[in-house]
Amino acid sequence: MKEGSTRSRGHDAQHTNIMAAKIVAETVKSCLGPKGMDKMLVDSFGDVTITSDGRTILDEMDIQHPAAKMMVEVAKTQDNEAGDGTTTAVIIAGELLSKSEDLIDKNIHPTIIIDGYKKASEKALETIEKIAIPVDLKTTEQLKKAAMTSMASKLVAEQREHLAELAVKAILAVAGKDDGKYRADVEDVKVEKKPGESLRETRLIQGIVLDKEVAHSGMPKRIEKAKIALLDASLEIEKTEFDAKINIENPDQMEAFLKQEEQMMRDMVDKITAAGANVVLCQKGIDDMVQHFLARKSILAVRRIKKSDMEKLAKATGGNITSNLDSINSKDLGYADLVEERKIGDDKMTFIEGCRHPKSVTILIRGGTERIVDEAERSIHDALCVVRDIVEEPKILAGGGAPELEASRVIRKYAETLPGREQLAVKAYAEALEVIPITLSENAGLDPIDILSNLRSKHEENQTWAGIEVQTGKIQDMFKANVFEPISVKKQIIRSATEASSLILKIDDVIASGKMKTPPPGAGGPPGGEYPGAEGY
Ligand SMILES: Nc1ncnc2c1ncn2[C@@H]1O[C@H](COP(=O)(O)OP(=O)(O)OP(=O)(O)O)[C@@H](O)[C@H]1O
Ligand SMILES: [Mg+2]
Repeated sequence: MKEGSTRSRGHDAQHTNIMAAKIVAETVKSCLGPKGMDKMLVDSFGDVTITSDGRTILDEMDIQHPAAKMMVEVAKTQDNEAGDGTTTAVIIAGELLSKSEDLIDKNIHPTIIIDGYKKASEKALETIEKIAIPVDLKTTEQLKKAAMTSMASKLVAEQREHLAELAVKAILAVAGKDDGKYRADVEDVKVEKKPGESLRETRLIQGIVLDKEVAHSGMPKRIEKAKIALLDASLEIEKTEFDAKINIENPDQMEAFLKQEEQMMRDMVDKITAAGANVVLCQKGIDDMVQHFLARKSILAVRRIKKSDMEKLAKATGGNITSNLDSINSKDLGYADLVEERKIGDDKMTFIEGCRHPKSVTILIRGGTERIVDEAERSIHDALCVVRDIVEEPKILAGGGAPELEASRVIRKYAETLPGREQLAVKAYAEALEVIPITLSENAGLDPIDILSNLRSKHEENQTWAGIEVQTGKIQDMFKANVFEPISVKKQIIRSATEASSLILKIDDVIASGKMKTPPPGAGGPPGGEYPGAEGY
């Protein structure tokens, strides 16, 4: 190996990896649940983020250790697959590793632990599937409660009822049936944010909102029955790629040149009017002169729209995005009942409402400060995902540690049927799941040992939904406490946490190549290459 490379093997490697992963889990532990704390993250530019969202915290932290990075991956996978439960997934993965450390110390081979964990996780999934309650999608009550649960642990908890209602409406607006099953894409819900007013003023708009103003002051600010040209070409005279030179010898030529340019721009506007458009939404720039001509024709134009927004606009208005003005015709135009510029806070935004395709909605987030608006966006993302999860797989569980405890009980029973070493691994898994009610209680300042033993006995008595309601500090039926969670979030938690811990456990050799070094003066050779005197081992 090259100089500077390091290698650790066997127990050493396992211990270091487990340690690193545990530290990551420890970091997010204090954020779990409604009584969890928030973190303030400051990046290298000094930008501040305040959040309790597991994924965001780990994303913003500049984590270096490879095993710790795997925990960040857990949060990422959880977020991409289910949208919520990122903190829980990381905490359980950390706990699984922590328990495995004890087993390794007892000389149980990691492969046996991995096998045991796999079997236990299958039991956990089975249990969750068995106890889950089907949801009737004809009413939105349960969807709303689940959305509210996901926001209970966030900065915006105070307004969770209002925000949950918006999230439910938004997802139901974009959901569609596919092969008899509902499908909804969170991406179809556009989220815009503008600091100012309060969270209560957050609204759902039936249409698309662009964070852009109308390009020219002379243009109309409101067009009803809008026929919309969607362009991804610029309405400017294109500059040549290389420096070009034109020789102008007299004023007439200059004038002719400018006239020519003007004519080209007039032609652009003529093509747009010929197609019958009264609104232009353009991804690129619009020349001042073109803006002026458009204004004279009473056309409303917005420029420099994001590509992703253009795609949403095309979908919503039923128009085609055109890159060549020569080919634009009336069939390419999209339609909306109303396009209007409105003043929101200190800025102006453009609203496209009553679109041809009613399945396009925007949530416009308002809130006291930028940080609140940012955290509201993350929380609404979680809520949207939770509602989508239930719409796509209509089953729910109650929270507050109840499903974890129930799974833990079943797994413990199952462990009894297994031989020695494997039994220990499966039991360790059952214990690891209990970290959730323990952490929820700890974060609420309650006595976790007391609560855990109490909860265990309740589950022994077949009180499936007994959990810890942290707002009151009491043990109770979590369904009655209205703490609802989608089954898919919990299933994904089990899968991601088990996979990540197994992956880390399987490693028994870490070989890290050293940092690139420049050779000492006079040694020659390329930087980073092996130079005379380099000693590998
Ligand atoms: N009132 C409540 N009492 C007890 N537990 C609750 C209550 N409300 C929510 N919870 C629990 O809090 C946990 C969720 O906490 P939180 O939202 O902080 O973490 P997460 O969903 O795992 O991660 P993230 O939201 O950061 O992606 C769930 O286990 C849920 O059951
Ligand atoms: Mg959550």
